[in-house]
Amino acid sequence: MKIINNIVHMQALAIAPEREGRRIAFVPTMGFLHEGHASLLREGRTRGDVLVLSIFVNPIQFGKNEDLDRYPRDMERDCQIAEACGVDIVFIPTAEEMYPPGFQAGVAVRDLSLPLCGTSRPGHFDGVATVVAKLFNIVRPDVALFGSKDYQQLAVIRRMTADLNMPVEIVGMPIVREADGIAMSSRNAYLSPLERQSALCLIQAIRRARELFAAGERSIAVLMKETVSVIGQDATAVIDYVEFRDGSTLQELEVADDSTLLALAVTIGKTRLIDNTVLGEKL
Ligand code: PAJ
Repeated sequence: MKIINNIVHMQALAIAPEREGRRIAFVPTMGFLHEGHASLLREGRTRGDVLVLSIFVNPIQFGKNEDLDRYPRDMERDCQIAEACGVDIVFIPTAEEMYPPGFQAGVAVRDLSLPLCGTSRPGHFDGVATVVAKLFNIVRPDVALFGSKDYQQLAVIRRMTADLNMPVEIVGMPIVREADGIAMSSRNAYLSPLERQSALCLIQAIRRARELFAAGERSIAVLMKETVSVIGQDATAVIDYVEFRDGSTLQELEVADDSTLLALAVTIGKTRLIDNTVLGEKL
């Protein structure tokens, strides 16, 4: 497994497989890898001849008062996990090289970036789209894998790739959860044992909404009331948003169907957690 820190070096390494007709599969991450990331890497291994993982805590997708400075990091452990998943190249660029003085270009996916996390984190998805576009230009993947844990991010990346004719196949992967149902996330490391218990309210709310939907409930007003009330039962949980939206356009709805997305963002202590489900999707 090669570890590459330099952009030109990475670009040079990507050109050889391209010439030889070997496919590059790519998994971009911010590191502190867990089983969710590993699931993308293992799928990537089956879809490409060369598997590239990037680890980069991207400063331009964090807001001023967010957790950029304390985002968890463990490069040594990440490299062990990468190796075990069959990664060929780990690309770890520096912020100085990614964003040198004078940097000013950017990619924006307008409408899809506005609701949900885009409202609570203005500019976040511009930062994500811009770094992913840069990484695509550096790694030159044939296929790139993203988790539906970050449902809106996946929608933004799909739209960017289609709208800008980027020659990359985007593969969306299911949410990997802990045994008790909590979605795996690098940010779970922030939670104290008590907060970890409170964090269960997200999956409990999702389960309740899915249960009602499966029993035939289609009114979003009713589904919303029930979902919010499950989260409300936890005294420490503060709702950022609970939204039922069209699974493709992310537009608001009054009546749910199989493709309706339930997306949640809830703060437990100082930690903001997100989770989602598509109501009609079999789990
Ligand atoms: P990060 O949060 O490290 O996530 C990297 C990838 O892993 C994303 O595609 C994310 O959706 C996926 N992932 C995270 N938790 C998951 C889980 N529990 N199950 C399945 N997949 C999961 O998302 C980012 O980094 C960044 O925004 C990035 C795309 C790298 C751009 O900076």
